[in-house]
Amino acid sequence: MEKIVIKGGVTLNGEVQVSGAKNSALPLLFATLLADGVSEICNVPDLRDINTAVKLLRELGAEVELQEGCYQINTRKIQSVEAPYDLVKTMRASVLVLGPLLARFGHARVSLPGGCAIGARPINLHLKGLEALGAHIHLDHGYVEATTDGLRGAKISFDLPTVGGTENLLMAASLAEGETVLENAAREPEIVQLAEALNSMGAKIEGAGTAVINIQGVARLEPLECQVIPDRIEAGTFMIAAAITGGNVLIRGAVREDQEALISKLIETGAEIRPEADGLRVIGPKKVASVDIRTSVFPGFPTDMQAQFMALMTVAEGTSRISETVFENRFMHVCELQRMGADIQIDGHSAIIRGANQMTGAPVMATDLRASASLILAGLASENTTEVSRIYHLDRGYEKIEEKLAALGAQIWREQE
Ligand code: EPZ
Repeated sequence: MEKIVIKGGVTLNGEVQVSGAKNSALPLLFATLLADGVSEICNVPDLRDINTAVKLLRELGAEVELQEGCYQINTRKIQSVEAPYDLVKTMRASVLVLGPLLARFGHARVSLPGGCAIGARPINLHLKGLEALGAHIHLDHGYVEATTDGLRGAKISFDLPTVGGTENLLMAASLAEGETVLENAAREPEIVQLAEALNSMGAKIEGAGTAVINIQGVARLEPLECQVIPDRIEAGTFMIAAAITGGNVLIRGAVREDQEALISKLIETGAEIRPEADGLRVIGPKKVASVDIRTSVFPGFPTDMQAQFMALMTVAEGTSRISETVFENRFMHVCELQRMGADIQIDGHSAIIRGANQMTGAPVMATDLRASASLILAGLASENTTEVSRIYHLDRGYEKIEEKLAALGAQIWREQE
């Protein structure tokens, strides 16, 4: 097992390049199943979750090659429609094969993902939407068995704007007969890229990025060629790294329109955010002001930035309140931050952080992907040494983060436990 070691107290300076977005690359990889041929997806980040997605595509019969940072996916010989439990439990985004397999082959057998560290994360809204398109769905020994003799368009209103549910339904409805309307759809930039990618394959989708998306089904789709957008959560994590160390960092690839909620909160903490030619420059404040945040769906403050922002608040002047409204158990970084000297009280779905403590390095344990990043950020701002274990969580969603931070001057490295 590996761990990451950080000697804190260094101000970060320089520039860093954001990798391709994990949460866009995953649905795009599975969207290739909708077409019969060879697709190419470039700027895919080198992550554990991507490797799991590639393993699943190969299990289904696709041929996948990586050449100069681009994946070539040949879906001519798909001979299985089953996503097995051992892969789905490793990465729940595997459920995104449901829509494409059902739409192209009329059949999909996908393991229920089961619980996850940050919450129950059911897929009931995915299944309800697919049933509305005419799929017959039944649960059998922990698997979703979905069949159809042909999907037909329908009007679907999501109880809540589910990202994965919107993605599964966008892909399924692209090949359904007739018109589908998705209401209360998710509006994330990754949804917009998926819709644009599907349209480049021949789909007819309008309204992606708004709460109402209209899809006119087509008979067939052509293979995909696309470039994954930059990862706004990785970009946001580096923005907080600059703020928490009082540094001056240009984050190449950060897109202002994808970060408005985070930018306005960082400005409230006293950070300066300057758009530049190909990214955002963040100049950290001498003293961090405490700021309340409440996570919500895009374009609100992203739940995937909550843990990282909490690390910043542990060194802020004053008291801040962080409310997590999207997931029911996304405060597991709190007890690890407390080990580093943070003064945090949990009150239901909120955490109260009394800042201005001198954080001290300690051996801590990553519990989930974004909690890992939170601990590294706190380590950057702590006296002496922090050791973060179980960093397989981190490697799911961050490409070489310790190398990127070291290039900004951080004293950070990876070593065997
Ligand atoms: C996506 O997960 C992201 N993952 C998550 O990022 C992100 O936190 C989340 O969207 C919210 O932005 C990928 O894109 C691969 P949801 P997803 O469906 O699609 C409930 C990261 O750190 N819900 O929008 O699973 C659910 O329980 C990861 O990169 C239902 O109740 O999120 C949750 O409380 C973590 N029924 C809320 O909605 C459903 O059928 C949001 O879930 C579906 C969801």
